[in-house]
Amino acid sequence: MELITQIDKNKLPKHIAIIMDGNGRWAKKKGKERAFGHENGVKAVRQTVEAAAEIGVEYLTFYAFSTENWDRPKAEVDTLMELLVQAIQTQTDDLNKNGVRIQAIGDLESLPLKCQHELQEAINLTSKNKRLTAIIAISYSSKWEIVNAVKKIGNDIRNGKVSPEDITNEVFSSYLCTKDIPDPDFLIRTSGEQRISNFLLWQLAYAEFYFTPVLWPDFNKDELFKAVIDFQNRERRFGKTNIL
Ligand code: IPE
Ligand code: IPE
Ligand code: MG
Repeated sequence: MELITQIDKNKLPKHIAIIMDGNGRWAKKKGKERAFGHENGVKAVRQTVEAAAEIGVEYLTFYAFSTENWDRPKAEVDTLMELLVQAIQTQTDDLNKNGVRIQAIGDLESLPLKCQHELQEAINLTSKNKRLTAIIAISYSSKWEIVNAVKKIGNDIRNGKVSPEDITNEVFSSYLCTKDIPDPDFLIRTSGEQRISNFLLWQLAYAEFYFTPVLWPDFNKDELFKAVIDFQNRERRFGKTNIL
């Protein structure tokens, strides 16, 4: 039986966050340079977006490049930035036709100018689309985001815009890059690593976690469907007792 037919459309995760890991190991296994793994990772992104749109997931966040990834060798960083530009140039029109809205979170000003411009163009072009929102986390880390939020709140307190007593979970969330995006209810990490690597620490507070040994370039539609089926078999209690 096809996996997609096992998915209950009434019990979908609304927002899936993905740590796309294992490109380097995938390339190494094939006797190639790490860049080859990153290139093939783009196809997996495309498949995942299509699969998510097919079943009706509304939000997808892809962890593409972390704050810590800037410490990789310059050649690899350059390749990743170049690939991002290429991926946007080759994929945006199609994504746009298919109703995908592109957004980005992270310290976008730290990106090469070319990257910033391409990203902004794709964001503007697709801003009215409603079917699925695909968010790229780039030059992103959660601690960076939280510290940044605290700085902005500090400023607003100084300027009299907010008072400390008014700060609630909701107010704090509104200072994060994800302010208009619902928290992910499902996190997928590929490549067998079982850690969060500075990704969406606040937003993942009650997400379900799914770890698969599949290396990112091998991730595809069926892998996404498998993960969603796993999600649908879990009981989410949010700290309460179970309903039975
Ligand atoms: C994920 O693959 C892509 C990025 C972090 C940019 P890696 O490059 O981390 O690949 P591995 O984990 O070394 O195999
Ligand atoms: C996490 O992968 C970051 C991204 C997928 C962009 P890393 O490969 O950088 O994480 P660690 O070093 O294994 O924790
Ligand atoms: Mg890695």
